[in-house]
Amino acid sequence: MINKAKKILITGGAGYIGSHVTEKLVKTRSKIVILDNLIRGNKKLINKKTKFVKANINNTKLLKKIIFKNKIDTVIHLASLASVAESQKFKKRYFLNNIKGTLSILNACKNSGVRSFIYSSSCSVYGNVKGKVSEKRKPNPKSYYAITKYKSENLIKKFSKRYRFKYIILRYFNVGGASNSGKIGEVGNKNDRLIKNLAIQYFKDKPKINIHGSNYKTKDGTCIRDYIHVSDIADIHKKCVDYLSKNLKSNIFNCGYEKGYSVLEISKIFKKIKQNTIINFKNRRPGDVSQVYADSSKFKKIFKWKPKNNDIKKIIYSAIRWERKLNHL
Ligand SMILES: NC(=O)c1ccc[n+]([C@@H]2O[C@H](COP(=O)([O-])OP(=O)(O)OC[C@H]3O[C@@H](n4cnc5c(N)ncnc54)[C@H](O)[C@@H]3O)[C@@H](O)[C@H]2O)c1
Repeated sequence: MINKAKKILITGGAGYIGSHVTEKLVKTRSKIVILDNLIRGNKKLINKKTKFVKANINNTKLLKKIIFKNKIDTVIHLASLASVAESQKFKKRYFLNNIKGTLSILNACKNSGVRSFIYSSSCSVYGNVKGKVSEKRKPNPKSYYAITKYKSENLIKKFSKRYRFKYIILRYFNVGGASNSGKIGEVGNKNDRLIKNLAIQYFKDKPKINIHGSNYKTKDGTCIRDYIHVSDIADIHKKCVDYLSKNLKSNIFNCGYEKGYSVLEISKIFKKIKQNTIINFKNRRPGDVSQVYADSSKFKKIFKWKPKNNDIKKIIYSAIRWERKLNHL
């Protein structure tokens, strides 16, 4: 329960995760401004109970204005380009968008009423790890995307010290599924996101899954990831807004279910749902690490957190339900 009405700026609120975070927070008494340039987001995902500004996070002057005019006390920064493969090809674009963009927001927060800053980082900052990874592990980002996330984390820490606001850095593992409301979910043709791709394939006459890399040092040679339902991620954000408003203590948390699934395992689960699915093995994608899954004990302990949607089939079915709806929108 968020005890005081918060004034929250959500960057990237027209995106997949941002729209779920927003849906959760509009149910509190918070006033929400969404800033998104819609480069990857979608108008359909913008919550009607918010104020929407179509703009780039690199526009520091405008951000400053928004923060002052709306008396923003909390920033949730999700706006980012978020494809590992794309980042390897377009480093400059990723640098300008993700690193410079974060710097721009931090500059806009300087000497303002912003006291809390929540950032969506990624498990990719850890690089290749064996077994569970906790927040104590020294990051070792491999892809350029992961570098942009890690550099942004460090900028946030630096600014927080200098300008006295508190932060929570959330390192999400792989996010999937859609809200039970049926109103929001992942939009677009993001074939590099496994769960979204499965949902797309479900509606094809000849469904196929391409597995990138079959010679990783894992139990079946394919990459291992930890998949978390987007509704649990949204819930985590609500808890963090509350935590910062009460405890004002900066922290970093992993967000995952502590279970690694290989891409082949997930493909086999999907093949049981859609039996005519063809599984193809392709070359590795640049920047992919072989395995990473969460040790989430820190978040569990502090928040007494129990995930509500910790079931891979539930995640897949919820993504399919949304895809069906999306096809008819
Ligand atoms: N989806 C995942 O599994 C996952 C995992 C780890 C971390 N993350 C992080 O979570 C955040 C949200 O990811 P998502 O999956 O919802 O992606 P998304 O692409 O659906 O959402 C990102 C949003 O940011 C907006 N945006 C991007 N650059 C912008 C800019 N310069 N100015 C204004 N708006 C801009 C896009 O239009 C989009 O609406 C990202 O920061 C991503 O790095 C996602």
